[in-house]
Amino acid sequence: MAAERGEFSSRLGFILAAAGSAVGLGNIWKFPFEVGNGGGAAFVVMYLLFCFLLCFPVMTAEIAIGRKTRRNAVGAFYSLNSPAWSFIGKLGILSGFLILSFYNVVAGWAFGYVVEMLAGNFDIGNHFGDFVADWIKVGSYGLVFMATTAYIVSHGIQKGIERAAKLLMPSLIIIMVVLLAYSLTLDGAMDGLKFYLVPDFSKINGPVVYSALGQAFFSLSLGMGALITYGSYLNRDQNIVQSAALITLMDVGIAFLAGLMLFPFVFSQGVEPTGGAGLIFVTLPGVFENLGPVVGVVVGTLFFTLLSFAALTSTVSLLEVPVAYVVDEHKVPRTRAVWLTAILIFVVGIPSLLSNGATSIFTNFMQIIGIAQEGATDHSFMTFVGWVANDTFLPLGGMLISIFAAYIWKKENLSEELAQGNENYIGSYTEKYINFAISYLAPVVLSIIFVLTVLNRFFNIQLIG
Ligand code: PFF
Repeated sequence: MAAERGEFSSRLGFILAAAGSAVGLGNIWKFPFEVGNGGGAAFVVMYLLFCFLLCFPVMTAEIAIGRKTRRNAVGAFYSLNSPAWSFIGKLGILSGFLILSFYNVVAGWAFGYVVEMLAGNFDIGNHFGDFVADWIKVGSYGLVFMATTAYIVSHGIQKGIERAAKLLMPSLIIIMVVLLAYSLTLDGAMDGLKFYLVPDFSKINGPVVYSALGQAFFSLSLGMGALITYGSYLNRDQNIVQSAALITLMDVGIAFLAGLMLFPFVFSQGVEPTGGAGLIFVTLPGVFENLGPVVGVVVGTLFFTLLSFAALTSTVSLLEVPVAYVVDEHKVPRTRAVWLTAILIFVVGIPSLLSNGATSIFTNFMQIIGIAQEGATDHSFMTFVGWVANDTFLPLGGMLISIFAAYIWKKENLSEELAQGNENYIGSYTEKYINFAISYLAPVVLSIIFVLTVLNRFFNIQLIG
């Protein structure tokens, strides 16, 4: 059975694939602009606390559920004799669908920027608005991106997902280090670092906390069964706690380095860092342009290649979640499952594709359905899907997974699974902390923030801050 489903060939393969899932647009595109909007280092501190104290324990539980059952995000709950709880997996699949539907649109922009820059359209950043509104063009880039994702996933675990991660992740790290070293040599780099690294805690308010939490879950690919799915392909000898720690560190490390690289670029040109979603696609290319035609093209092309690689290992994991479900539970052959799911998600993504200026219905979506917030600038369908999936469903999924692991599956069973490949686990401080976090910390903190987020985002009611 296991051989048929596929298995990662080594711990490195698993860690690179899971870190590949985690490291994506969330780290390089979303994290810096959330930092910009959320007031700089204060946001960074909140994000780090959530990642290590809350998300890391939930991650070990997700991987353990997957490895124990060797089934997909829905089937795993059946295997643990809890069919009623399989709705967590179904919610996860829905989140995966929604996230991939808009994620692929942005990935298409990143890929499109590589092509445009190589084709000599160097000032593409000045035409961002026209570029994203040109739905046929960006739709074609998105289609190529989705097809590449599907191609990789159709080759299965070792020959598809693991091989791609082993190629793309090291390339990504090398490109990142080169760009970071260069950015730190620019004049004004220090101002960028100050904005990024010196916290002003007066800037922390409700929405900053909700975004930091949503960002932590999104960035770690947590709360939607992606790690149940990847865990189901992990060998019993591997140490889950250590792997989860490495994945969290890599993810946080790369988000951190992305900011460290980006803010010096931005401040070196005296540009405001609060550029929202456009920070990467408008502000940064403008900065590259100022570096002169040769250096600018090289740096710009490298940067958007980096972004596309990071996105690809994430879209692969997003697609694998529903595919594993269809393959395991409905016995559909992998190739067919992959292409059908990919097409369906692409179609679901069309409103997001159109929500960036192609038609005003989707651009003003939140205003039209009456949930736009005062002072908010982005009312698009794509932003709405992000609120629903990233900021609401993922933390909700994380909360339910914690409750399930602690009280339904039971802590002892979780510990037993986590002790496989980790002899000293039982009785260790790590075990005590993980049990505390999934039994009390995560359910309490996540349910409070869940209620506050829903009130704030969808009813415009702000109870705190
Ligand atoms: N972690 C990815 C990122 O930061 O870009 C996004 C993501 C991938 C979320 C896979 C959820 C997921 F299952």
